Amino acid sequence: MQHKNKVKVPFLDLKRVNAPYKEMFKKSFERFLDSGWYIKGSAVTAFEKAFANYCGTSYCIGVGNGLDALTLILKAYVALGRIKEGDEVIVAANTYIATILAVKQANLTPVLVEPDAASFNLDPQRIEAQCSTHTKVILPTHLYGQLADMEAISAIAKKRGLLVIADAAQAHGAMTTSGARAGSLCDAVGFSFYPTKNLGALGDGGAVTTNDSALAAIIRSMANYGSTSKYVNDIIGVNSRLDEVQAYFLLEKLKDLDKNNDRRRAIAKQYFNKIENEKIKKPHVKSWENHIFHVFVIQITNRDEFCLYLDQEEIGYLIHYPIPPHHQKALIEFKDLELPITEKIHSEVISIPLYPEMTINEIERVIEVLNAY
Ligand SMILES: Cc1ncc(COP(=O)(O)O)c(C=O)c1O
Repeated sequence: MQHKNKVKVPFLDLKRVNAPYKEMFKKSFERFLDSGWYIKGSAVTAFEKAFANYCGTSYCIGVGNGLDALTLILKAYVALGRIKEGDEVIVAANTYIATILAVKQANLTPVLVEPDAASFNLDPQRIEAQCSTHTKVILPTHLYGQLADMEAISAIAKKRGLLVIADAAQAHGAMTTSGARAGSLCDAVGFSFYPTKNLGALGDGGAVTTNDSALAAIIRSMANYGSTSKYVNDIIGVNSRLDEVQAYFLLEKLKDLDKNNDRRRAIAKQYFNKIENEKIKKPHVKSWENHIFHVFVIQITNRDEFCLYLDQEEIGYLIHYPIPPHHQKALIEFKDLELPITEKIHSEVISIPLYPEMTINEIERVIEVLNAY
């Protein structure tokens, strides 16, 4: 079928996302180059302060990437004696594999719990049945940009004396209805600044936010060879630092994060109002502040056929994610788990284009093509 408004719609165009910053970035880069100081400089310090302030936390520690942010939080809690190697960490079974890898890297035991089928987030109703005497942490992911039910999760954690650590790699700026940001809703939060994220660098980057001064101090040291002052090493550390040049770029982009999240929400609202096709299930939105639409994920039963149709119509898409973690070869120990909700989600989800720089024509084309399916 031919559509009158036939434009090719990429899933995401990062060149377009970063184009408005080109001149600013060139100036920032010149400042960076001329500073002669390329690691752990004033831009990292300024970004850490700005991001902590944005999230409403006392501390932000820039690290190498989102996986390291989560791994360092967990390892730091082990170093502080709050948890010990082998302890169990509750995660959503449908999270991106990095959440589970972080748990494994810290020599802890991931416990995969089915998500809520509507919100795709960790289902608080299922957590307690999976808790044992070894459970010490609940680690929800704010998947696709929507906050997990932190109130219910925190209540369980409080009752059982567990830590809550959130994976907010996809949720920069998501807010509760009372105005608290994702970065401030639990003991510690890990962020990724991978270029495709709502707050994306031009390379790898990550951060931890927390109000816990002891945790912040140990992560800062652990991410820098375990060093407390130059050439003094108290613990075994790694090298995982937010790059100075990325901090310059992130400082610029942080200023527009709320505006860009609002634009994402406005596009999502158009999709909600105008996509009408009984074969397509739109995502469940608990509240609009809670969701920053990192991706707009629809569900469809005959996904392969739908993908071919989108290919023909030149509409970009991605699948977040095609293989559930427990079916990945890397996580062979979970292969016998029965997780029907997770498996159904992985077989039906597909993400359609949604990013702030999309044109009206592109948005309308996506709607038209989906309605014509
Ligand atoms: C939910 C989630 N957790 C963790 C990560 C890991 O972040 P990074 O790629 O910066 O290591 C990502 C990034 O893709 C993610 O989406």
